[in-house]
Amino acid sequence: MGILVKNGEIITAAERFVGDVYCADGKIVAVGPGLEKRSSDDTVIDASGQIILPGGVDAHVHMELPFMGTESSDDFETGTAAGVAGGTTSIIDFVIPNRNQPLLDGLAQWNEKAKKAVADYAFHMAVTWFGDNTLSEMQTCVREKGIPSFKTFMAYKGAIGVDDTELIQVMEGAKGLGALVTVHCEHGDAVVSLQKKLIREGKTHPRYHAQSRPSIIEGEATNRAIVLARLTGEPIYIVHVTCKESVAAIAEARSRGQIVLAETCPQYLLLDDSVYEKPDFEGAAYVMSPPIRPKADGHQEALWAGLASGLIQTIATDHCPFHNVGQKDRGINDFTKIPNGAAGIENRLGLMWTYGVLAGKIDVHKFVDLFATQPAKIFGLYPRKGSIVPGGDADLVVFDPTATQTISAKTHHHRCDRSIFEGFEVKGKPSHVIVNGRVQFKDGKLDVVRGAGRYLPRKLEKSSLMGAS
Ligand code: URP
Ligand code: ZN
Ligand code: ZN
Repeated sequence: MGILVKNGEIITAAERFVGDVYCADGKIVAVGPGLEKRSSDDTVIDASGQIILPGGVDAHVHMELPFMGTESSDDFETGTAAGVAGGTTSIIDFVIPNRNQPLLDGLAQWNEKAKKAVADYAFHMAVTWFGDNTLSEMQTCVREKGIPSFKTFMAYKGAIGVDDTELIQVMEGAKGLGALVTVHCEHGDAVVSLQKKLIREGKTHPRYHAQSRPSIIEGEATNRAIVLARLTGEPIYIVHVTCKESVAAIAEARSRGQIVLAETCPQYLLLDDSVYEKPDFEGAAYVMSPPIRPKADGHQEALWAGLASGLIQTIATDHCPFHNVGQKDRGINDFTKIPNGAAGIENRLGLMWTYGVLAGKIDVHKFVDLFATQPAKIFGLYPRKGSIVPGGDADLVVFDPTATQTISAKTHHHRCDRSIFEGFEVKGKPSHVIVNGRVQFKDGKLDVVRGAGRYLPRKLEKSSLMGAS
């Protein structure tokens, strides 16, 4: 049984035309005008007046991540389902082994957890320490496990963070394997020192989380990571860029021809640090790292300009939810104990469409590129994911540009008691989301299958890294 999506405006990173998409056996079979049913039991979706987009690829999420004494509250089933409701049909999660835990042990744990995903998933491997066997485990990840991207944290000192020596080791190891190193850039020692000072002064409120991680320490770390990548001759991907200092470091490197790729997230484009002043303990919902930046400092303008000009290639969410009640409140008397992270996988499409495309900050093709095509290309999922091409997986979003919605924790599919986008109005929402050739979301209702998601082994194409703009 196939699916024929008829008369929609097909928008990809490169094209825009009214036409049809025919899918069968989980694949896109044909794209073009005037397509007909091929079997009497084919489902026909009338997409007149609607837009047909490729399913979104979110290259930065953390489902059921053990972190800061608790675990992120969406598991692979609920988190991927929330993604589907918001038009994201593939994710890349991070295997994050504990310090001293072998990488492949961590991978075995993530393989087990991810079996319940409703949509397809891949993994990055975080290297949280560098031991005698780490290089050979990195080799196994790339050559046998389909994981050609590694993650390092310059923050989270004493937990999952690495020092510069370890970061260089990861970069050198990855270079020999043709793999890509992704980096969370914040000066780990500076954060710890600022945290200690603030706590000594009795400054325990969530607002001090932001003060313990100012933008200059992100900018410094971004620059340092770029310098180390330059020394090793290794491409680098900077995750969740939040500030103008980082954008400037990336711009400088790219102007020299260095392959530096970057991602940002809707929260850094749309929120400002006044969120930390919310009454009671509500500011805790926004405790994430790096933190939300001050409006007046021009960070958001730098990020939007970076997206429009191609300095930043992808929009991810860093989806890592924790409930305010029962999780974030571990830090009610000490902001350093508030688990870092927030939910967002369901909101990426609506927010970027409304506040990016409709606000005139990016055009529709750039939107698709950031949301689906570039994450798929950079991380080796293209053309299977990230576009609308015959032979690709049948992951499609039929998007009603006239529908409206107000984001709220009361109605979202995230398993989280707060929404950091509470009250945001979005224009346009998916009417149908097709995942691997099956309609999994229709008219506001999810119809997902636990365990239907498949693991996506990946292989990187160097040309995709060089061509990313
Ligand atoms: O606060 C965040 N971002 N939590 C998730 C872990 C990370 O740093 O990406
Ligand atoms: Zn991070
Ligand atoms: Zn993250």
